[in-house]
Amino acid sequence: MNTNLLLGVQNLSVAFDTRHGRVAVLDNVNLHLHKGETLAIVGESGSGKSVTAYAALGVLDPAGKITSGKVEFDGRNLLELSPQEMRKLRGRDLAMIFQSPRTALNPIRKVGQQIEDVLQAHNPGMSGKERKEAAIEQLASVKITDPARRYNAYPYELSGGMCQRVMIAIALACKPRLLIADEPTTGLDVTTQVVIMDLVHELAQAHGMATILITHDLRLAANYCSRVAVMHAGQVLEDAPIANLFKGARHPYTKRLIAATPKPGITLEKLASIPGQLPDLRQPQPPCRFSARCDRCVPECAAPGLTLVPYSDNASHLIACRNPL
Ligand SMILES: Nc1ncnc2c1ncn2[C@@H]1O[C@H](COP(=O)(O)OP(=O)(O)OP(=O)(O)O)[C@@H](O)[C@H]1O
Ligand SMILES: [Mg+2]
Repeated sequence: MNTNLLLGVQNLSVAFDTRHGRVAVLDNVNLHLHKGETLAIVGESGSGKSVTAYAALGVLDPAGKITSGKVEFDGRNLLELSPQEMRKLRGRDLAMIFQSPRTALNPIRKVGQQIEDVLQAHNPGMSGKERKEAAIEQLASVKITDPARRYNAYPYELSGGMCQRVMIAIALACKPRLLIADEPTTGLDVTTQVVIMDLVHELAQAHGMATILITHDLRLAANYCSRVAVMHAGQVLEDAPIANLFKGARHPYTKRLIAATPKPGITLEKLASIPGQLPDLRQPQPPCRFSARCDRCVPECAAPGLTLVPYSDNASHLIACRNPL
């Protein structure tokens, strides 16, 4: 057993029961994260990034069912824990920053009290005075100026960037070992995005916390993560150190995703787009869900049992493709 492994998602499949019947969204997702490591999950909208995170943390929409797989955290399969055991782990060992801070915060509760709620749930021995001091300290740690005054603010009194800082303060209140940040800077202006991402990165480093950053933005992934998992239509197609990915993406989808990333000096007209659309998951899917959009598709792509395997014996560069670049 690799003792340095913190999170191992193995063959995780999730289906949603919808009006159109059962939709197989995640198909045998495999991910791994070592202690203190920073992994990005990238992919187009609807590729299953958030569902993967929700399933792993046990906060999946009730319509979603885990149909197979394991989520090992520090040697325990989270999918076998009771709801009470999972609640204990969430907040204390595992924390998540959600896509939109304004809706994730309680609008009628002071932000300081919302930090205290997490502290109280996980440190019942703390006195009220200690909790308030710790909440103010948390607000200071996410660089909110005048934290004692801001403790009394309601979310509507704060800017989007401030609300996201409060979300980070809540997520990190109990110094978790794993933080999942789901598009933490969506809806924020570019300057605030950088400030927030720098803050998450700095706090993660300071606490030796492993981080999963979910993002559409490959540049953001390149700036803050050491490794990237590329998802498409509920499958992980490539998983590699960031430098390998930019220098030598092996999956045709990753190559197209990189070509579709805006760069300085490239006009919108010249920017490559990825042909076709995400497949309709209500329909039965071929083993490779990218095959209908792929210009390198060969007859072998229709063979069942597509899995992530090391590319050319490189154990750190994994790829799920029958005809890689
Ligand atoms: N509650 C739900 N019921 C039915 N289908 C769902 C539900 N939640 C998500 N899905 C489906 O699961 C798929 C993956 O969704 P997910 O939210 O994980 O995508 P994502 O990669 O996070 O996209 P985005 O970048 O837009 O956040 C989508 O096809 C979506 O329609
Ligand atoms: Mg999402």
